[in-house]
Amino acid sequence: MALSDKKYSQRIEAAFAKYPDKRSAVMPLLYLAQEEYGWVSPEGIQEVADLCDMDPTQVQSIAGFYTMYSEKPKGKYWLQVCTDLACALRGADEFYEELKAELGVEDGGTTEDGLFTVEHVMCLAACDKAPMLQCNFHFMENLDMDKMRAWIAEKRAEAAKAKK
Ligand code: FES
Repeated sequence: MALSDKKYSQRIEAAFAKYPDKRSAVMPLLYLAQEEYGWVSPEGIQEVADLCDMDPTQVQSIAGFYTMYSEKPKGKYWLQVCTDLACALRGADEFYEELKAELGVEDGGTTEDGLFTVEHVMCLAACDKAPMLQCNFHFMENLDMDKMRAWIAEKRAEAAKAKK
């Protein structure tokens, strides 16, 4: 599949409709590319460049500048754990250490089943709900490892069911 797939056509048109020229839609289209490929792959960069009438190098430089775009393949669930000061004061460092140990990965690592990628990030502006993380751009707040173990087990069960 690719961004030319029918399922993206409405969203691409909607992105273009918001801006006076095509190149201004590059960021929302990079999100679509990331959704399609799991990261901003070379194919995704080329497709966005073609859609926006831009040079792929320009699109790559935008993708490389912003941390919300991933320049390498990620797991299905991209877990970005805030370990900045306010969260650290509420146990985020310990939470992150336990989460990595639970998943058997280091910072930036992806589990062997391809389901989970973890990394630590700076403030996500939910300081009063620490420990917290962002999973595929959705916040999960007031976390503890019991909640995380249950959530991880649920996602693994869903993945196993989908394989059958
Ligand atoms: S310090 Fe973690 S969300 Fe602000």
